[in-house]
Amino acid sequence: MAIRQIAKMGHPVLRRKAAPVDDPTDPDIARLAEDMRDTLEWIGATGIAAPQVYDSRRVVVYRILADRIPPGVALEPLPWTVMVNPVVTPLSDDVGLIWERCLSLPGLHGKVPRYKQVEIVYQTLEGESRQRVVEDWHAMILQHECDHLDGILYPMRMTDLSYLAFNAEPGELAREAETMPDLDPALRAMVEAWPARQKWLAS
Ligand code: NI
Repeated sequence: MAIRQIAKMGHPVLRRKAAPVDDPTDPDIARLAEDMRDTLEWIGATGIAAPQVYDSRRVVVYRILADRIPPGVALEPLPWTVMVNPVVTPLSDDVGLIWERCLSLPGLHGKVPRYKQVEIVYQTLEGESRQRVVEDWHAMILQHECDHLDGILYPMRMTDLSYLAFNAEPGELAREAETMPDLDPALRAMVEAWPARQKWLAS
């Protein structure tokens, strides 16, 4: 078990296009994926891409925890999934705005346009090809993580930077949370921990 350091925004490894993995069954890739999983488990987060642990290869690890599924959203928890050489393709032009955070931008959150329905094709550690069609929050996670493989961080996708904020001051998110039953429970907890909430949202 190894917990790895997380690269933060500004480090060149996060701006680089990651290299394709020639052999997904290489034990070195399995070790990398295991370290990424250990790192996520330690932090309690959902997903991570290899460049975030200073390894510029096309590997993503994620899971969906039951307590991170927004209320009312038809989504099943998903066990640890390792995706080697993942490719995301939008299935329509339908775009929605989703609040996101990123381990490489600690302390920040932002509202990001994402395709609502995508297809993902990837290889497993056994070298098998897999294909999945996913929607909404699940689709957002995959777009976010696969963007890391192309050197893209979520603020680079934002079309309105007034929706980029510190987690300690989640004003706009707090305002929206009032009328958003399907908000990610982790983001709702962040809003509820904001001491200024009552004072600034009362009027
Ligand atoms: Ni990220």
